[in-house]
Amino acid sequence: MVGSIPLPHGGRLVNRFLVSDKKTDGMFTISVNGDLRNDIENIADGVFSPLEGFVVERDFQSIVKTGRLENGLAWTVPIVLDVDDPTAAKMKDAGQVALTTGSDRFAILHVEETYSFNKLAAAKAVYQTEDIKHPGVDKMVNMKNRLVGGRVDVVKRIKQSPLRKYRMIPAETRAEISRKGWKSVVGFQTRNVPHVAHEMLQKAALNLYDGLFVNPLIGKKKQGDFKDEVILAAYVALIDNYYPKDRAMFVTLHTEMRYAGPKEAIHHAIMRKNFGCSHFIVGRDHAGVGNYYHPFAAHEIFKGYADLEIHPVFFPAFYYCKKCLSYANERNCPHGLEFREELSGTKMRNMVSTGEIPPEHLMRPEVAKMIISFNEPFV
Ligand code: ADX
Repeated sequence: MVGSIPLPHGGRLVNRFLVSDKKTDGMFTISVNGDLRNDIENIADGVFSPLEGFVVERDFQSIVKTGRLENGLAWTVPIVLDVDDPTAAKMKDAGQVALTTGSDRFAILHVEETYSFNKLAAAKAVYQTEDIKHPGVDKMVNMKNRLVGGRVDVVKRIKQSPLRKYRMIPAETRAEISRKGWKSVVGFQTRNVPHVAHEMLQKAALNLYDGLFVNPLIGKKKQGDFKDEVILAAYVALIDNYYPKDRAMFVTLHTEMRYAGPKEAIHHAIMRKNFGCSHFIVGRDHAGVGNYYHPFAAHEIFKGYADLEIHPVFFPAFYYCKKCLSYANERNCPHGLEFREELSGTKMRNMVSTGEIPPEHLMRPEVAKMIISFNEPFV
């Protein structure tokens, strides 16, 4: 079989969990929300290797301008902490700041610098639009004025919960891949409940590689997307009933969707490289929203990232062909549009929201049953 497991991005898995019992008592304190805390834990666990904290200005500018860190390493989505001007000044004075959610003091931020940034220019660079109807642009232009760069040390993990039952950290997934003896592993990103086209993409890839790493994104999503608990339950139903146990790993990734299309496809690939994947599936409109990106813009961008060390596996749009009686695509099916049933997350969301149960060739009955058991399946 093809491939070999790449080293983590930048060569080394970051670990920013503090083993000593360094006290945060008396430190200047900043409160962050649960989404940011997820990403701070991702930094500490090496999901974002080589980042060791929030990016400093020279890296921020380089990411925005070139899609790379200042040292040239591929990186497309800046991981930042935004604060208002007076707080930035206080943090700079303090040097070390305790990060909290509620009453939980969970990390220490070693403030290296604070800096201002051009929100609209940064949004345009990452999301390729300045339209504030784009959820990522909206978030960025509403950020506070200053960014704080510096390393973090996490002292306390996020509490375990049913949504985190399948979470694993890169050190664990890499150990598991090595235990299984897989020499090639193909990663699959998703923010949706699974329809049969998703399953066919994954199984087409599984024909070629030793293992499949099914890795749904659990975390903040835009209004109208499926809720995390629905995605999780639907995937468990799919994997239990349709996947070979010894060829697939099911692990959740706890971060937010950014809807940055091509730039996010690179970011998604880098995280999966850190988990130990050698390959990464990129299909139609990867991480897209609305019509902001060409459906295959996320394929094109990889041309500028030949050095990534995780290999993209590109798929054209899969549809159900009523003549072939199977899933097909323009590369292998000669039949006309009238035979095609297109599948997308949007189409599934529309069906479920009108109470329509998707037919078996579009969605597995176990999956559909699980989804409709939720009263409010959408964010
Ligand atoms: S995403 O925002 O996480 O990309 P989604 O969960 O719908 O959205 O897609 C997961 C992966 O499957 C992405 O790589 C996407 O491009 C691919 N994909 C989804 N539907 C199709 C389809 N009908 N044909 C080809 N690729 C698809």
